[in-house]
Amino acid sequence: SLYLFGIVVLAYLFGSIPTAVWFGQAFYGVDVREYGSGNAGATNTFRVLGKKAGIIVMCVDIFKGWTATNLPHLFDSSIVGTTDSISFVNFQLALGVIAVLGHLFPVFAGFRGGKGVATLFGMVIAIQPMAALCCVTVFLVCLIISNYVSLSSISAGFTFPISLALIIKTTVPSVMLYAIAICILILITHQKNIERLLKGKESKIYLFKKSEK
Ligand code: G3P
Repeated sequence: SLYLFGIVVLAYLFGSIPTAVWFGQAFYGVDVREYGSGNAGATNTFRVLGKKAGIIVMCVDIFKGWTATNLPHLFDSSIVGTTDSISFVNFQLALGVIAVLGHLFPVFAGFRGGKGVATLFGMVIAIQPMAALCCVTVFLVCLIISNYVSLSSISAGFTFPISLALIIKTTVPSVMLYAIAICILILITHQKNIERLLKGKESKIYLFKKSEK
């Protein structure tokens, strides 16, 4: 229906909010895509503009994914078109992925966005908080050990389907398929990072180093 289409468009528009670009331009007069990794994400904001800016962008990007995923809750079930909980979650997952596509290809920033990790994390919080906790734990441990955000993002991506299968013991095939697709999506958006990691040329991020900015 027209309503469903409206919700889908809304999810894309939410994801499209280019937090890193707008925040950098508004408060630092800088388009973060011209520096560092060239990515419009929290990591590159951290790298280019410092810790505070990076954390703010990360929070907004997480919130985008969370909000898009929760959109169906705002509408009547007759509009969402289902009372069955599995199709409801499938619809939520689809909206989360659409928001991530908005983040990757933002209509508000010339379709040059980020890699979708924070936005995906917001979706996972909305769908399965226990899995989100597993992902964030793996992410932090990997980051503290390796100082590579990209490697940590990829590891957290793998943690999502693994935690669904082993800890949450999901038996819903569609949810598992989404989780695996998300894992693959993270690998695709991190192709350049993977190349740099293999060549030993990926830039490191030190979480606890004092940032001057
Ligand atoms: O969330 C993106 C992160 O995994 C890598 O970002 O800027 O190092 O390519 P970046």
